[in-house]
Amino acid sequence: MSPGPLATTGPADLGPRRSQDLLSREFREYLSSDPDYRRLDELQQKGWNNPEGDQYFNARRQKSASADRGGGKYALLRMMKNIGDQFNTKTGAFEISSAQPKVLDFCMAPGGFVSCALKYNESAKVDAFSLHPNQGGHRVLVDYGIKDERVTMVYKDVTMFAAEFGVPSSPEHHSRWKHLQQKWPYHTPHYDLVICDGAILPSSGYQDSFMIEINSMMTFRLINLFHEFSSVRLFKPPRAHAIKSSFYLLARNVQSDSQPCLEAMTLFKHIWEQTTFETISEATYRLCNEFSVERRPLSPELEEFGSRYIELARPLWNVQADALAAASFTKVTAAAPS
Ligand SMILES: C[S@@+](CC[C@H](N)C(=O)[O-])C[C@H]1O[C@@H](n2cnc3c(N)ncnc32)[C@H](O)[C@@H]1O
Repeated sequence: MSPGPLATTGPADLGPRRSQDLLSREFREYLSSDPDYRRLDELQQKGWNNPEGDQYFNARRQKSASADRGGGKYALLRMMKNIGDQFNTKTGAFEISSAQPKVLDFCMAPGGFVSCALKYNESAKVDAFSLHPNQGGHRVLVDYGIKDERVTMVYKDVTMFAAEFGVPSSPEHHSRWKHLQQKWPYHTPHYDLVICDGAILPSSGYQDSFMIEINSMMTFRLINLFHEFSSVRLFKPPRAHAIKSSFYLLARNVQSDSQPCLEAMTLFKHIWEQTTFETISEATYRLCNEFSVERRPLSPELEEFGSRYIELARPLWNVQADALAAASFTKVTAAAPS
């Protein structure tokens, strides 16, 4: 049996449906002492038990997929720019104090966040990647290269920079590892802002990452991990992501040389190895397993970080609960499917 991925990216719009798999009983009980969490949980249960909830989220996904293929792709750009502006108003995520801010975006297309980074820092220099549209990625719709020399962008799959992840711990991966090596094209030694809207990787300066499923135990552990080497804030776009469980994490003052950060980097490298190769080394298995399932007792972490987590998560719970309360599929509880 191999361990599950660090953060799920499936259509878990409402949050973890198989609560018992993703939320340990202990974690769930802990959260349930909070009235705001209980309100959200009750509304989610209503949504999960009503087939109309599935229909609603399927229709939403289809609409966004077809908009993306057709002329609606500019709508995605507009939406990302709006989210970026709201993110900045709430947290100052895009305001950088250096004279010539350096920005790295791992998953740039269509380019809303890069536009925001340049809007708030006109002299910024941006290095960016995005998955090629032929491989299922979006097209970059903002200027770069000769049209805007501040932005360098190459279509690359960021998971293929094997050398950046270090030599795999399992010798049997070495031959495949060589084939995964794309050359890192940039020479910027330090970035002030790293945007991971589609990937989760630490660096120095600021980082923001898009995450799914607040309230899964793995997300709790991941936020706690970031909390150990940075100041963490969470942001949920009030319109675009209100009804879903997704949110952004902003990590400020990243202590990139600190022991917790170095340990997190090792963990992320192992997780990359685990998700890239079919077979995994024992060390990788142990690390990922410890992080992702209930092998490590949760209570010390809850004692240490639980109340801070609730403080961070409560505004997100309330935004989602208000949106769910207004949805038709939470008004009537249909019979649970047998
Ligand atoms: C939600 S969009 C990002 C939106 C972007 N932050 C903006 O502000 O416009 C996610 C992006 O990640 C890209 N992506 C997904 N997997 C990737 C990968 N392995 N390497 C690089 N880009 C990837 C997708 O093509 C898509 O453009």
